[in-house]
Amino acid sequence: ASAYAFFGEHQAGITTPVQQHLHFASFDMMARTDRDDLISLLQDWSYAASRMTQGLEVSATGAVLGSPQAPPDDTGEALGLPAAGLTITIGFGPTLFELDGTDRYGIAAQRPDGLRKLPAFLGDDLDPGASNGDLCIQACADDPQVAVHAIRNLSRIAFGRATIRWSQLGFGRTSKTTAAQATPRNLFGFKDGTANILSDDAAALDEYVWAAASDSPAWLAGGSYLVARKIGMIIESWDRVRLAEQDAIIGRDKGEGAPLSGGDEFTEPDFARTDAAGTPLISATSHVRLAHPEFNGGIRILRRGYNFVDGNTDLGRLDAGLFFLSYQRSPEQFVTLQRALSTDTMNEYIRHIGSGIWAIPPGAIAGSFVGAGLFA
Ligand code: HEM
Repeated sequence: ASAYAFFGEHQAGITTPVQQHLHFASFDMMARTDRDDLISLLQDWSYAASRMTQGLEVSATGAVLGSPQAPPDDTGEALGLPAAGLTITIGFGPTLFELDGTDRYGIAAQRPDGLRKLPAFLGDDLDPGASNGDLCIQACADDPQVAVHAIRNLSRIAFGRATIRWSQLGFGRTSKTTAAQATPRNLFGFKDGTANILSDDAAALDEYVWAAASDSPAWLAGGSYLVARKIGMIIESWDRVRLAEQDAIIGRDKGEGAPLSGGDEFTEPDFARTDAAGTPLISATSHVRLAHPEFNGGIRILRRGYNFVDGNTDLGRLDAGLFFLSYQRSPEQFVTLQRALSTDTMNEYIRHIGSGIWAIPPGAIAGSFVGAGLFA
């Protein structure tokens, strides 16, 4: 099992080979907290994260070596488990910088210009209970117990300073970030992540994922922006759609994931190709065409989402979907693509029910903490 360093140039959990499980949590700072509380929280989170990602307990005394008369530092359910590829990625939401015009932590002047609540999109059906938040933590691991242990202990450490606003469990990655990973499938049964930005594509990462020193503000250089969209899938309707129609909606075939213009999974789609009657083989309203860089000014994003099933609805339907996570150098990249998807034929089978955006600071240098540059 692998262990990824917590400290480094970039935060782990972005280009890291996508792990199998996700526990994502959004936090709000508590009333009457000040700048020192925020700094100490980020320090405590970073310290605990640097240990847990190495398969260690949150502190040296951990779950069982402390005083028998005190609650243990670590909750214990990951005792004996390896790091399981755990990554912990911390982000700052727009409201951390400014809430209802109030600069609670003396950082309003440092808010990245683009870090604003996302605009409303056609068809949005957002639940405030699954949207936004002052801070976020994305915990990914190959063992769900390890990911849950991380969020549980980090929220415990936040006691008196921040509380969980909403959270999401995910299983089954819906993307890949290295060529060595086989392309996984989403709950529509299609391969997802074929055209994703890969971790060894340094040029694409610099152009589309990492905020540059020349982008403002300077403290975010080496960081990124994370967009989360909880997207419900109307599974029962989808499952009654003819296979050929499913293929047409995506623009790729279900078996191989090859573009409908021909070739194999990794053949570039040819949007100009038509059948004998002159109809494009890849429909103009297919997901792949609408999201493709060719029709969006070259824009790309790094996708890192997960499948979710939150039990079932009262009608006996699966409460399921895709917890979409994307990393980009500017929020505009997501906004442009999501607007382009307004005519997506897939929209009949999905519903955006949660949304959030966070600035992702660069990685912390050893011994320091995530976001330190913001308080320098
Ligand atoms: C590609 C599914 C939502 C952006 C794809 C592919 C599938 C897929 C099957 C083709 C394989 C691949 O290249 O990964 C879905 C499903 C969604 C969803 C089921 C919702 C439940 C979104 C959203 C965005 C997005 C919200 C961005 C706003 C993209 C992009 C591509 C893509 C950029 C690659 C296009 C290309 O370069 O060919 N998606 N997607 N998707 N999707 Fe989605």
